[in-house]
Amino acid sequence: MLQAKGIEKSYGQLHILKGVDMQVHRKEIVSIVGASGAGKSTFLHIIGSLDQADKGSVMIKGVDLMSLNEKKLSAFRNQYIGFIFQFHHLLPEFTALENVCIPAFIHKTGKKESERRAAELLELLGLRHRMLHKPAELSGGEQQRVAVARSLINNPAIILADEPSGNLDSENAYALHRMFTSLRDQLDQTFLIVTHNEDLASISDRVVHMKDGNIVDDE
Ligand SMILES: Nc1ncnc2c1ncn2[C@@H]1O[C@H](COP(=O)(O)OP(=O)(O)OP(=O)(O)O)[C@@H](O)[C@H]1O
Ligand SMILES: [Mg+2]
Repeated sequence: MLQAKGIEKSYGQLHILKGVDMQVHRKEIVSIVGASGAGKSTFLHIIGSLDQADKGSVMIKGVDLMSLNEKKLSAFRNQYIGFIFQFHHLLPEFTALENVCIPAFIHKTGKKESERRAAELLELLGLRHRMLHKPAELSGGEQQRVAVARSLINNPAIILADEPSGNLDSENAYALHRMFTSLRDQLDQTFLIVTHNEDLASISDRVVHMKDGNIVDDE
């Protein structure tokens, strides 16, 4: 589903990524762990085409991201890549249902169909009775589940998550992690997750360690 090869990235004199290779198969949950500053977020942003590599290639679903112009890249990102961040980045003025619909609207899916799918996902994530709540009217765990539903609405090829449970208490973090495995089982979803959370790493199919801009071992 994902193949990254020889990813290099520098900021000025700082050589942050030194030729990172990574493969993630369909239906696989891969965690990236490593010390602060190792380059994990930088790598994830490059995979998600939110940032550009100096060298190397990223293929998602067989498409070389570097071959796409800006407009095609935005469309590709919207359709095939789901993002979950440490802070949910929900829009405060909109309900849970509307927040989940936004990537579908960008994809030009009709309103009815978007809302139907958003409601289905929110229900799947146990938020049937919270759909019309705005983010401020939801708990932290609920907000993060809305963000998960939003990341799923366009049936992405892969979900990229950067510290998705970093802001949750242990109970909500555990629930979120179980949810990832059930989404993998029920929807064949593929995940690449950066985490400091050992429990999350331990339920992954594979854990990749990143150190000083390199993958040090790939179990
Ligand atoms: N825009 C930037 N300009 C300059 N340096 C940057 C920039 N973004 C990141 N860095 C540096 O690159 C290094 C790697 O950053 P990155 O955010 O990828 O680390 P990380 O592994 O995600 O760490 P953490 O676990 O703390 O989130 C850090 O030393 C950081 O200071
Ligand atoms: Mg980071």
